[in-house]
Amino acid sequence: MIKAVIFDLDGVIVDTARYHFLAWKRLADELGIKFTEEDNERLKGVSRIRSMEILMELGGITLSQYEKEKLANKKNTWFVDYVERMIPEEIYSGVRVLIEKLKERGIHIALASSSKNARTVLHLLHIQNLFEVVTDGTMITHSKPDPEIFLLAAEKLGIDPKDCLVFEDAEAGIEGALAAGMLCVGIGSQEQLFKAHKVIRHTGDFTMEMLDEFNAVALK
Ligand code: BG6
Ligand code: MG
Repeated sequence: MIKAVIFDLDGVIVDTARYHFLAWKRLADELGIKFTEEDNERLKGVSRIRSMEILMELGGITLSQYEKEKLANKKNTWFVDYVERMIPEEIYSGVRVLIEKLKERGIHIALASSSKNARTVLHLLHIQNLFEVVTDGTMITHSKPDPEIFLLAAEKLGIDPKDCLVFEDAEAGIEGALAAGMLCVGIGSQEQLFKAHKVIRHTGDFTMEMLDEFNAVALK
């Protein structure tokens, strides 16, 4: 029985995945590294420093820890710049309604984001109140695909991981949710996110009938 839904933030609640991509692309261009949207899939869901390491792998370059952190911080400055100009309309359509419907069913709602900027984004868009529990990149040691953040969110909610359903747009996030023993909905393309239990295009496409299907499977 699904008792809690745990949402990722970037690319699931709001279109910030685009800003992460634009900021990494800007850094890649500066470093002369070819970086495509397809390459970017590997950076989704993982920590800032791990993203930097993947970018270095793509470019075949090595950097000192100091250089690595300096460049990752530079990327973050650009990301925050983009985010500060965001408007509430960038919250994906149907997300608020979906969360309201889930709450009406007595389902607990949490956020589990690898981002250290998650609280800033929630604050800027005035959506902190949608979530009973917020877990983010400042609260964990191991980022997705490690299950730590999901297990922390479940623990804070007081719900058994097997009764949690996760919404994720990143392959790393889906792997983390599965490793936590949770059910998972992928947001994006079936081809990319095939490991999820179900894949839908947009978060707002999720229906209460789909929730009933998850419950039917969980009861078997
Ligand atoms: C995740 C994003 O939510 O947060 C990743 O999908 C990002 O792309 C990660 O690298 C860390 O974010 P931040 O804001 O702490 O650099
Ligand atoms: Mg995401």
